Amino acid sequence: MALSDFTNNVKPNIARAPVTKAVFPVAGLGTRFLPATKAQPKEMLPVVDKPLIQYAIEEAYSAGIRHMIFVTGRNKRSIEDHFDTAYELEAELETNNKLALLRLVQDIKPDDMDCSYVRQPRSLGLGHAVLCAERMVGNEPFAVLLADDLMINKPSADQVGGTQLSVLAQMVKLYEHLGTSILAVQEVPMEMVSRYGIVAGEVAEDRLSRVNKIIEKPKPENAPSNLAVAGRYILTPEIFNQIRRQTTGVQGEIQLTDGIANLLKTQHVHAYQYYGKRYDCGSKEGFLEATVELALQHPEVGATFRKFLQDMKF
Ligand code: UTP
Repeated sequence: MALSDFTNNVKPNIARAPVTKAVFPVAGLGTRFLPATKAQPKEMLPVVDKPLIQYAIEEAYSAGIRHMIFVTGRNKRSIEDHFDTAYELEAELETNNKLALLRLVQDIKPDDMDCSYVRQPRSLGLGHAVLCAERMVGNEPFAVLLADDLMINKPSADQVGGTQLSVLAQMVKLYEHLGTSILAVQEVPMEMVSRYGIVAGEVAEDRLSRVNKIIEKPKPENAPSNLAVAGRYILTPEIFNQIRRQTTGVQGEIQLTDGIANLLKTQHVHAYQYYGKRYDCGSKEGFLEATVELALQHPEVGATFRKFLQDMKF
């Protein structure tokens, strides 16, 4: 059976605990975006008209997840406000009969979605941030989304074997069949492997492999492959024990990658080459690329922005 069958429409054949919770680590310092991130979280930077964190929340919601857990830190209050009711604004929009805008604001947090917040007292690394969510996650499989990796899946008409599903929705479908932790991966040029967690494994299907090695930010000469982990994970709750056991890793941080390396000793982990495009919005270049591409597709400004770019003299 082809992988696209799993991600499109084949019903799962094994009853598994469903993935109902997603963790959003948003407690990083965002140093690559200073000074913009001195007093505001990088996850609130807008791509065209929507903050990065909202794209990630919408992706999780589209995957059927309804409980969103934010791991926050100092200066992150605006994230909580964004997913809360804005009484004055909503009343004003209603009074002025701006109903489309009112809907836009109210739809940010659908009624059937719950948001919880837990603080990471210090930015000790992504693994530590995930560990901070342990009590809220409990003994269940869960998703982790890094909002600064913006994932867009817009299949083109000529795409072979594609899917309409968002990247996380593809992974949730796969989880229903595999029941293992799953890492979203993409190929990167060999000279860029030292920016990522890199996996190697045995190919199980087209786009799917069973991971047997994972290493954080290797030098190109030490990298076991060029398959880089992108900011989407489905993890079994055993990961918490494994993170707890580890010491600090690369850059003096408690790395999620090291926790996953420990997990490999007791459980299977799969790497999935998703359908879709990733923008590294934690970097200026990636953020600009996302802004230009999404602006070109935007129903309100797309056409005029395209003309502006065409008329530009370089
Ligand atoms: P990054 O390393 O990309 O984020 O972590 P950063 O540290 O905020 O950014 P730079 O490198 O200084 O520019 C990936 C994700 O993990 C979160 C970040 O908020 C980001 O979404 N994170 C990282 C935490 O929540 N806590 C941490 O201790 C570290």
